[in-house]
Amino acid sequence: MYKALRNKIEKKSARIGVIGLGYVGLPLAVAFAEEGFRVTGIDTSSRMIKSIKSGKSYILDVPTERIAELVSNKLLTATEEYAVVKKLDALIICVPTPLGKTKEPDISFIVAAVKNIIRNRKKGQLYILESTTYPGTTEEILLPKFQEGGFRVGRDFFLAFSPERVDPSNKVYTTNTIPKVVGGVTKKSTALAEMLYGKIVGQVIPVSSSKVAEMAKLLENTFRSVNIGLVNELALMCESLNVDVWEVISAAKTKPFGFMSFYPGPGIGGHCINIDPLYLSWKASLHGFKSRFIELADRINSSMPQHVVGRVISALNKRRKPVKGCKILVLGVAYKKDVNDTRESPSHEIIRLFLEEEARVSYCDPYVLNMEVNGRTLKSMNLKRSFLRKQDCVILSTDHGTFDYKKIAENSKLVFDARNAFHHAGVKRRNIIKL
Ligand SMILES: NC(=O)c1ccc[n+]([C@@H]2O[C@H](COP(=O)([O-])OP(=O)(O)OC[C@H]3O[C@@H](n4cnc5c(N)ncnc54)[C@H](O)[C@@H]3O)[C@@H](O)[C@H]2O)c1
Repeated sequence: MYKALRNKIEKKSARIGVIGLGYVGLPLAVAFAEEGFRVTGIDTSSRMIKSIKSGKSYILDVPTERIAELVSNKLLTATEEYAVVKKLDALIICVPTPLGKTKEPDISFIVAAVKNIIRNRKKGQLYILESTTYPGTTEEILLPKFQEGGFRVGRDFFLAFSPERVDPSNKVYTTNTIPKVVGGVTKKSTALAEMLYGKIVGQVIPVSSSKVAEMAKLLENTFRSVNIGLVNELALMCESLNVDVWEVISAAKTKPFGFMSFYPGPGIGGHCINIDPLYLSWKASLHGFKSRFIELADRINSSMPQHVVGRVISALNKRRKPVKGCKILVLGVAYKKDVNDTRESPSHEIIRLFLEEEARVSYCDPYVLNMEVNGRTLKSMNLKRSFLRKQDCVILSTDHGTFDYKKIAENSKLVFDARNAFHHAGVKRRNIIKL
C-alpha cells in the first residue's frame, strides 16, 4: 500500500481531498490542483461549495480566475458530501480549532471531520492534519480513532501532522514558498507526507514525530504572541515615560543581529496568534506545568482594545466632549491589514466598548461590508469628507493599504492612530495622536 501510494503521488495521479476550504484549505487545494493533482474540497458550508462550483473565490489571496480555470479543467471540485472520501488517496484536514468559552481547546471540528472520514474510508489512504492544535492531538486523539475497527497505521493507512504556516495577504511567502514541516506517526507516514508536499512546496522538513511538528507550530505562534505582548507593554511604558515607542523600535531595529522588530497595536486577532498559545498552555497545565509567558502575553494583548478606548475617551475629555453621544468612526475591522477576516479582531472589541459607553459608533472597512456587534448590524461607511468632518474621533485600528490617510487626517477633528499608519504614509498633523 505504501508503494502504491508513493507511485500515485509520484505520478500525480493520487486524488487529494482537502477538508475545510477556508483561509488555509482553499489556497492548499488550489496549490495541489495547479500542480496537476485532482483535488476535491469538502466543506460543511453550502455557501462555500456553491461558490467554488461556480468558479468563484471568497478569499482575497486566491483570485477568482484561478479557481474558475481549475474548476473548468476538472482539477478542482467541491462537495458537502463525505461519500467522496472513498475515491480519494490523501486527505488533508484544515478545519477550525477555536477556543471554548473558558479558553480551552475546542477540537470538535477535527473530531467531526475524522468521524466522517472513517465512515467513508478505504484502505491505503494518507491522512494529514493541518489544523493547529496542542501537542499530542495526532497520536492521542486521531490515531486511536483511525485504528478503530481493526485498521492499523502503517498497514492500512498512514497518518501525519503538518502545521499550516500561511500568512494571509503576504505576497512574498505563499502556500508554495513557505517551507513545510511534516511529522508522521510512523516513518512511512512521514515519508509519504514529505513526498506529497514536495510536489507543491520548495522545501519540506521532516521531523521525528507528529508531536514535534505540532509543538513547532505552537512555538512559532507563541513566539509572536509573547513578543507582541512585550512590545505592547513597552508601548504602555513609553507612554508613561513620554517617549515615542515607534521611534524607539525604528532605532532598535537598525541593529543587524539579535533583534527582530515587533509592533504594538490595538490588540491581536485572527484565528492563530491569540488562540494557539492557549492550546499549548492548556496542554502543559494537564502535566502540572504553568506557562507564565503565554498567560502574561495573553493578558497584555487582550487589554489593548480597552487601552485604546481609554486613550480616546481621555483625549475627548480634554476637548470637553463626553463619550456618551460622541461620534466615533473606527477604520479597519479586519484583524489585520489587507484581509477580510474579522475573527477575534480587536476592532470588534473597541466598537463594543464604545457602544457600551453609548457613543455613536460607525466603521469603514473596504473588505468587510457589514458586521455584528452586540446584536446590532453595522454597515461599512463611505469615507466622504463631509462624513469625516462630523466625527468626534476617528480611530485607525487596521491599517489597510487602500485608506487615503491624507484625506482622513485633513478632514477629521481628532485621529487616534493605533498602528502608526499616518506616519508611514508621510502624513503629519497636530490632530493625530498615536498609541
Ligand atoms: N487563517 C490562518 O491564517 C491560519 C494560518 C495557519 C494555521 N491556521 C489553522 O488552520 C486551521 C483552519 O483555519 P482557517 O483560518 O482556514 O479556518 P476557516 O474557518 O477559514 O476554514 C475552515 C473551514 O472548515 C469548514 N469546516 C468546519 N467543520 C468542518 C467539517 N467537519 N468538515 C468539513 N469542513 C468543515 C468550515 O466551514 C470552514 O470553511 C485552524 O486550525 C487554524 O488555526 C490558520
